[in-house]
Amino acid sequence: MTALYDRVQAAAAAVRGPGRPPQVGLILGSGLGGYADSLVGKRAVPYAEIPHFPQSHVVGHAGKLVFGERGGAHCVAMQGRVHLYEGHSAETVSFPARVLVALGAKVIIVTNAAGGLNPDWTPGTLMLIRDHIDMLRDHALRGPNDERLGPRFPDMTQAYAPELRVLAKTAAKEKGIPLAEGVYVAMPGPTYETPAEVKMLQTVGADATGMSTVPEVVVARHMGARVIGISCITNQAAGITGNALSHDEVTDTATRVRATFESLLDAILTRLVTSGELDA
Ligand code: HPA
Repeated sequence: MTALYDRVQAAAAAVRGPGRPPQVGLILGSGLGGYADSLVGKRAVPYAEIPHFPQSHVVGHAGKLVFGERGGAHCVAMQGRVHLYEGHSAETVSFPARVLVALGAKVIIVTNAAGGLNPDWTPGTLMLIRDHIDMLRDHALRGPNDERLGPRFPDMTQAYAPELRVLAKTAAKEKGIPLAEGVYVAMPGPTYETPAEVKMLQTVGADATGMSTVPEVVVARHMGARVIGISCITNQAAGITGNALSHDEVTDTATRVRATFESLLDAILTRLVTSGELDA
C-alpha cells in the first residue's frame, strides 16, 4: 500500500488550484457545513473526486472540500467529516486534516457539536476548546511514523495554541458573543454516553463530550499546524436533566446557533489576518 505521506501528497496535488494556497483550514461540524458556501470566489471539490479521501455518510454532512476567501483569509473548508463510529480508523478519519495542512494551512479551525458536561451550560453555548482528553480506542498516529509528516512523539502541551485562544476570545468579545472555555473529551460513540459515563467524564475534568475532533487535532499538531477548536454545546449530556438525548435535539440546537457561530468564525478569520498571525 502507498505510504501515508504519498497518499496525502497525491490528494493535495489533485485538489490544488491555481490561486493562492490556503492559509487556514476549516473543519466544519454538525450544522456548520453551510459556512463553506459563504466563502468568496469559492471552488468546491467533492470528496468522491479526491484520491484516498474517506467518504462521509452521516445525514447533514455533505462531503466537499471548498476553497475560498473569508475575512481576507484564504481558506480551505471541509464540508463534512467522517467519524470513528462509521467504522473508519483514526488514521483514515484524520486523513483530510492532513491534506488541509499539506495544502498550506498553518492554522486549523475545528468545530463540532458536543454534549455539555458542565451543568451551568445551556444548549447553544459556544465553548472554546482549551485542551482535550482522548478516550477513543484508536489513535491517529498508531503505526509506523513517517518523519516527513512529523515526529514520533509529538508534544501536546499546547494542542490548542494559547495565543490563538486569546485571539478567539478577543474576537468573540468584540462581537458580543459569549464564549465559554473548557476541556473536550472524545468518546467513540455512536451511542451517547450513559449517565454513569457522564459522571466519570465530569470527574476527570472534561466540560464537553463529543465523537470527533481529537484525531484531526492530533495530526494537525503532528504536522506543525496551530489549532483553534470550538464546540457548540447542543445538549446537556446524558443524565443531567433526566431527559432522553436525540440527534434531533443536536441538529436543532446547531441550526439555532448557526448564525452566531458563523459570525464568530468571521470575526476570528478577520482577526487572524489583521493580527498578522497568518503572515510568513
Ligand atoms: N455526547 C456525545 N456526542 C455528542 C453529544 C453528546 O451528548 N451531543 C452532540 N454530540
